[in-house]
Amino acid sequence: MALSLNLNGQTHEVEADPGTPLLWVIRDELKLTGTKYGCGVAACGACTVHLDGVPVRACQTYAEDAEGAEITTIEGLNSKVAQAVQDAWVALDVVQCGYCQSGQIMSAVGLLSENPKPTVEEIDDYMNGNACRCATYQRIRAAIQRASLMLEA
Ligand code: FES
Ligand code: FES
Repeated sequence: MALSLNLNGQTHEVEADPGTPLLWVIRDELKLTGTKYGCGVAACGACTVHLDGVPVRACQTYAEDAEGAEITTIEGLNSKVAQAVQDAWVALDVVQCGYCQSGQIMSAVGLLSENPKPTVEEIDDYMNGNACRCATYQRIRAAIQRASLMLEA
């Protein structure tokens, strides 16, 4: 089926079978590989993108259901919150192997966009669906707190 997707501010016409996960359209058709495939069953968060600013798992979102929404991937992040998160990630050297990190950042931006001053419990709750096999959780938490402070300044 023909789909018209608005991704990172641009309209893309793509062909996809009904039921194709958005993740495959992003990676295979549109060649944006910052969004990762981890588990395929909404259990790891590696594939997190935003639909109208809200984090969703691209492996469990049908591409046809994303028509009409603004889809944002890690390559298209462009906001004050996103900048603060990315700066905090660099400042605290969060990344280890990096595989999970675009998903972590997409979730962190989603969190701070809806709740700019989260408590530790709120951070842990919100980020709970993003797994990191390198166990960078403490640095992720600290970076979200730092980004929150940066946004206050
Ligand atoms: S690949 Fe989508 S949540 Fe793991
Ligand atoms: S940094 Fe390696 S999986 Fe998270």
